[in-house]
Amino acid sequence: MSKIKCLVIFVKLIKMPLILMEQKNNFKRTLVTTALPYANGPVHVGHLAGVYVPADIYVRYLRMKGEDVILIGGSDEHGVPITLKAKNEGVTPQDIVDKFHGIIKRSFEEFGITFDIYSRTTNKTHYETASGFFKTLYDKGEFIEKVTEQNYDEEAKQFLADRYITGTCPHCKSEGAYGDQCESCGTSLNATDLINPKSTISGGALVLKETKHWYLPLDKHEPFLKKWILEEHKEWKPNVYGQCKSWLDMGLQPRAVSRDLNWGVPVPVEGAEGKVLYVWFDAPIGYISATKELTPEWEKYWKDPESRMVHFIGKDNIVFHCIVFPAMLKAEGSYILPDNVPSNEFLNLEGDKISTSRNWAVWLHEYLVDFKDKQDVLRYVLTANAPETKDNDFTWKDFQARNNNELVAILGNFVNRALVLTQKYYNGAVPAPGEFTDYDKETIAEIPAIVKRVERALDHYKFREAIKEAMNLARLGNKYLADSEPWKLIKTDEERVKTIMNIALQITANLAVLMEPFLPFTAKKMQQMINLDSLKWDACGKTDLLLVGHLTNKPELLFAKIEDETIQVQLDKLAKTKEVNDAANREVAPVKDDISFDDFTKMDIRVGTILEAEKVAKTKKLLKLLVDTGIDKRTVVSGIAEFFTPEDIIGKQVSILVNLAPRKIRGIESQGMILMAEDANGELSFIMPDKEVKPGSEVR
Ligand code: 2FM
Ligand code: ZN
Repeated sequence: MSKIKCLVIFVKLIKMPLILMEQKNNFKRTLVTTALPYANGPVHVGHLAGVYVPADIYVRYLRMKGEDVILIGGSDEHGVPITLKAKNEGVTPQDIVDKFHGIIKRSFEEFGITFDIYSRTTNKTHYETASGFFKTLYDKGEFIEKVTEQNYDEEAKQFLADRYITGTCPHCKSEGAYGDQCESCGTSLNATDLINPKSTISGGALVLKETKHWYLPLDKHEPFLKKWILEEHKEWKPNVYGQCKSWLDMGLQPRAVSRDLNWGVPVPVEGAEGKVLYVWFDAPIGYISATKELTPEWEKYWKDPESRMVHFIGKDNIVFHCIVFPAMLKAEGSYILPDNVPSNEFLNLEGDKISTSRNWAVWLHEYLVDFKDKQDVLRYVLTANAPETKDNDFTWKDFQARNNNELVAILGNFVNRALVLTQKYYNGAVPAPGEFTDYDKETIAEIPAIVKRVERALDHYKFREAIKEAMNLARLGNKYLADSEPWKLIKTDEERVKTIMNIALQITANLAVLMEPFLPFTAKKMQQMINLDSLKWDACGKTDLLLVGHLTNKPELLFAKIEDETIQVQLDKLAKTKEVNDAANREVAPVKDDISFDDFTKMDIRVGTILEAEKVAKTKKLLKLLVDTGIDKRTVVSGIAEFFTPEDIIGKQVSILVNLAPRKIRGIESQGMILMAEDANGELSFIMPDKEVKPGSEVR
């Protein structure tokens, strides 16, 4: 074969996937879903960065392009953690989800996430939809019924999910391993593997009890899933594709889709009393229920092959959205499958994993109080630093730097300069340009080129890259003004200044449109300042958006510098959280190894009375006590001086370990040990009888 021929074939081959991709974009409408957050706590920066900001940017962009797109969201209101939180707080699960659904919904609204509907999985439509979906699969024989032995907590009278069982890890022997994973050595476990498994709910031992459940035979769908993902969706992000591949390579197993629980959508078949749909079965159906609530035409989004579905999620949700939910949809038979699942990795906070239970997070509702009207600053920082390909870190210093060095110094500065000079030279009216220099032409040509790059990045779910490119337009404007120096030329060449300012204003107008998906609040301000209505996306890249003579308004600053003190307040807040967490960690010291009853009875603990007390010279912590043990009067050195003065304690009854071998402390022989309780802050209190007893009484 000649070289030329080879080349032609090669070009054809590399062109093919491009053509395929183009075709794939020829959809009539797009259904965008966002992971439904659990309604058992507020939402934080991690949620926003991972899912909601990118999804919102994407749909705003498509809407501006005039496409038929809907953004679906809602609260995930089932699952065991919600029932436990309710139990701990002495309220009902419904109380918990009512509270947090409201808080979450408000946070999203305030950050400008433009859901077409933000629903919840405890409403009637959802119960009907999820129940109906299960029934369809059940009637089609798509489930396997299995009776298995599961861990049952007899005290709490409930079956326990593996996460709620702890015990000793069979691999590394560390205590407190969870039934599904040992956090010390990272091994994933089954609760039945644990040594000495215990319920975290009642603390009691567990028994195995038989129970019937329904399983989705993922193994049956494996060949289809392999082809559909591994062959037909190679364009998915590497982190998503890679995770799917590793699940599929390991081989899929049937998954239970029901649970023994009284909170959730009841399993709609006979003999299933006391059983509900597994939260991960009903939650993704929540996307369908929400669309139903939104529009009677919901089926066209879900069932027309010309519709495209995109799931925005975090990486812990990949298997459910790429494998389990598609298998459910495929088994049902009438639904489309996702076209893409642009999942992000995790956002950490100041080097540590964000955690609701450890309160290690920047909560959105708190941010809104501390940084009033600065929603776009956070949207910007979280997009510019999005955990798109790997876990990333949110730090307050980076937040400050991006605000001050990018939003203020680049975007804000350029727009302000352009509009202030227009006010100053032309009372706000757009001047008529004269002849363009080569530099003008180059600058003008760069505007649509930047827009193209932004589009390309957005079309490929590369939001970091997109926002960086969008900022490049502001950089371009700044450079153009700095190089052209209209403020100097105004004294010598008024005509030239008109051209420069016209170009600067066209860049400003482009920014007001281009920034809308990313920074909607700022874009609105910019549009008001240049006196322009919100435009469609195809306006981007044009250089005649502002006609000659068009009147712009007086500008105001788009962004303000964030001072060190403001950032310090946030850092102090986190330091405080760390302190509390450290104290809490101390609070529940891990359980020590088991001892025998004999070991226990070896300790001779008595009630004694403190007769005398004095400080041990040159020490801060030690008191020398004389204690009447009923057996004798003996000296004990005790490390309690930071909490008690001698006067406080003389005459007090205490518990004393009397058969501890004598030890010398600071030269004084100590004959026993006073037992103390130590709380989370390290504060001490005596273990004393609740009424006066005879010294020498045994404690056992
Ligand atoms: O991980 C979570 O927060 C889940 N509540 C996400 C559910 S996404 C969907 F399936 F609803
Ligand atoms: Zn382990």
